[in-house]
Amino acid sequence: MATVDQSKTPYADALVQYAKRDTLRLNVPGHNARADGATRLSEYFGQHILELDLTPLLPGIDSGEGNPLAEARELAAAAWGAEKTWFLTNGASQANRIAALAIAQFGDPRHPVLAQRSAHSSFIDGIILSGLLPEWIVPTIDHHHGINHGVTPESFEAALRANPTARGAYIISPSYFGAVADVKAIAAIAHQHGIPLIVDGAWGTHFGFHPDVPENPLRLGADLLVSSTHKLGGSLTQSAMLHVGHGPFADQFVAIINRTFVLTQSTSNSALLLASLDIARSSLATGEDLIATAIRSGDQLRERVRHHPRLSVLSDDFAQFPDIAGHDPLHVSIDVSGLGRSGHEVRTTLMTDFHIETEISTDNCIVAIIGPGHPVDVDRLMAALDALAIDDSSDGEQLPLDLPAAGEARMLPRDAYFATSEVVDADSAIGRISADTLAAYPPGIPNVMPGEIITRETVEFLQHTAAQPNGYVRGAITSSADRYRVVR
Ligand SMILES: Cc1ncc(COP(=O)(O)O)c(C=O)c1O
Repeated sequence: MATVDQSKTPYADALVQYAKRDTLRLNVPGHNARADGATRLSEYFGQHILELDLTPLLPGIDSGEGNPLAEARELAAAAWGAEKTWFLTNGASQANRIAALAIAQFGDPRHPVLAQRSAHSSFIDGIILSGLLPEWIVPTIDHHHGINHGVTPESFEAALRANPTARGAYIISPSYFGAVADVKAIAAIAHQHGIPLIVDGAWGTHFGFHPDVPENPLRLGADLLVSSTHKLGGSLTQSAMLHVGHGPFADQFVAIINRTFVLTQSTSNSALLLASLDIARSSLATGEDLIATAIRSGDQLRERVRHHPRLSVLSDDFAQFPDIAGHDPLHVSIDVSGLGRSGHEVRTTLMTDFHIETEISTDNCIVAIIGPGHPVDVDRLMAALDALAIDDSSDGEQLPLDLPAAGEARMLPRDAYFATSEVVDADSAIGRISADTLAAYPPGIPNVMPGEIITRETVEFLQHTAAQPNGYVRGAITSSADRYRVVR
């Protein structure tokens, strides 16, 4: 196989060359790259950015046979080991919507798609848009930390046996906390049953680009990979990729996604976002040392946390969860409950008082994300955490993490979402069909999907969560979860 020169950035270079020409711009974007200050954008962003902000469909840029954008996509496909790659400008959320719309074009419309119940909201949106019938696989849950992980090959196989007509399956790996599922085993099971596997790898864009990070799901058999390149891949916010693997469904997916992509993408893609994807791909594919720097920082931080009397590393306990087959070293999840404060309070105070941003928090944890090439000032974070420690003998209230069973599904999510609905109080909502998705955080697994019956247990659980100091119900109409949108 011919080796591919991944140091090249054809699309990004073509933009720069084009911008150098003396062009009279009489098209969009309407700022026309004016340097005279009329739009104030030049002063704010710098003239170079405006010059690169080119309209789509320019010959020699993204139009015509073998154009630089097409070449950039081919380089990305080669870097990730994909049959074909699409560049997206509305995040991995767009990739998830395309994935759901694509599965809806496989097999019999009456048959279900299997999906991890903790699916990202964008995949649930895709289910609503596409009219898919979902059958859910509940992931394992870390009750102590209030977080959900992934699915085991055993629970995946059991779900397939219970739903032998499934048209496809969707799982998430890695999780928000860096837990990696056994994608190889799960893909093999999916293929034995003749269905494609979608992996939402939003958090693992860098996988496969260094021997000490987990393998890229496409090389483990995934058929479709959702990749949030701006997360750990280093491109600009909102840029992302969708990759089709070389497996048995490659041709079908390529044809379907070519058609479905245009349904979801703007006709005015941002050249800046696309160029950032081209450059990020080249940096990842040629930058083992960048990932090595981030791994070293992650290791240093984990080591300091391990030796701290009041902190611990969540991933040190991952071995006890049967779904977790690996761990991403660029996610550092820290149990901060020993500081006498909640994870949410620690995260917020780190931001406001110390100007240190971490990615997320739960009741007792914070998660730090380390981008490739980023040497972390570990001393600064540890000093801030030390300064936050208070003496508090209370353990804090634990949320009741025995999740209530989901109510019976009476309608397709799409039908319930678009049905005539009304907003009623909590008591009146019991026994009615939800028109909305509701998920209590922690642990963020949707408790109610559109089309499912709202049960008394679920209402009590949602209201209890909402009443906690840091409890939050995503999708709720009110912060106390006392009003519900139901099908009339
Ligand atoms: C698992 C998962 N998938 C998809 C997304 C959507 O990614 P984006 O923000 O790029 O749209 C997220 C965002 O956090 C996510 O956590």
